[in-house]
Amino acid sequence: MKFKDEVAIVTGAASGIGQEVAIQLAKEGAKVVLVDLNTCEKTIGLLNGSEYLECLGDVRDPDFVKAVINRTIENFDEIHILVNNAGTCSRLDLEDMTIEMWDRDLNTNLKATFLFSQAVVYPHMKEAGYGRIVNISSISGLNGGVTSGEEKNGRSGPGYSASKGGVIAFTKWVAKELGKYGITCNSVAPGATATAITAGVAYDTSNQVIDRMGLPSDIASAVLYFASKESSYTTSQVLKVDGGLSIG
Ligand SMILES: NC(=O)c1ccc[n+]([C@@H]2O[C@H](COP(=O)([O-])OP(=O)(O)OC[C@H]3O[C@@H](n4cnc5c(N)ncnc54)[C@H](O)[C@@H]3O)[C@@H](O)[C@H]2O)c1
Repeated sequence: MKFKDEVAIVTGAASGIGQEVAIQLAKEGAKVVLVDLNTCEKTIGLLNGSEYLECLGDVRDPDFVKAVINRTIENFDEIHILVNNAGTCSRLDLEDMTIEMWDRDLNTNLKATFLFSQAVVYPHMKEAGYGRIVNISSISGLNGGVTSGEEKNGRSGPGYSASKGGVIAFTKWVAKELGKYGITCNSVAPGATATAITAGVAYDTSNQVIDRMGLPSDIASAVLYFASKESSYTTSQVLKVDGGLSIG
């Protein structure tokens, strides 16, 4: 029970990677706060009776973010772990990109990461002198967009890449600022992983050392390391979990 009595907020917990992270944290004893636009019914059904709080709303909305933090403190008194995972991915190329899609990806992936990080640290994690922030970025934030090999719309779009590059830079900025309070901030950068976000996109993984798409459990394992006490001397890191795609 690595996370016994710890409280973890996981955004985007209704499906995919966030769902798996929440399940794994709960399995190790954490009380999980499930944040999503959509019902987390399925995730709750897989928690095996662990304590949870479901907060449904839009992570882009600063009032919703504040409400999540307030409800978490009311219910569980403290917050040890924040996993900024909720995300959207437009695959429109630069020529077709709309302001709406650009804003959606930037605000969901990057602005919400800022809003949640600020709200968990000040005052809660700072006063506790302990915290683990794990931001889900993407290989797209490092390499300019993971391509499936399909000609049109088979590559994560420019807004997505920019947002995830921003998440990586933000992770490092926050890590530098908060180490003095006992708070670490790291990022997991997945490659193509089989979830709703990649549904219908036929990724060619034959150029990867490990020739398959990632599974949510592959990504969750890395998140749990950064979320744990075991990673107390590790901050500002970006761990690529991509089957070796980025070896080149
Ligand atoms: N699947 C991949 O190949 C892959 C690769 C790299 C990074 N990622 C990142 O992993 C994270 C999780 O994605 P996933 O693959 O599990 O996809 P997913 O679509 O299964 O999960 C994303 C979750 O975020 C929620 N969400 C989206 N916008 C929201 C909003 N405004 N407010 C609240 N909740 C919102 C969705 O409802 C959904 O439950 C994302 O940040 C994504 O960019 C995924």
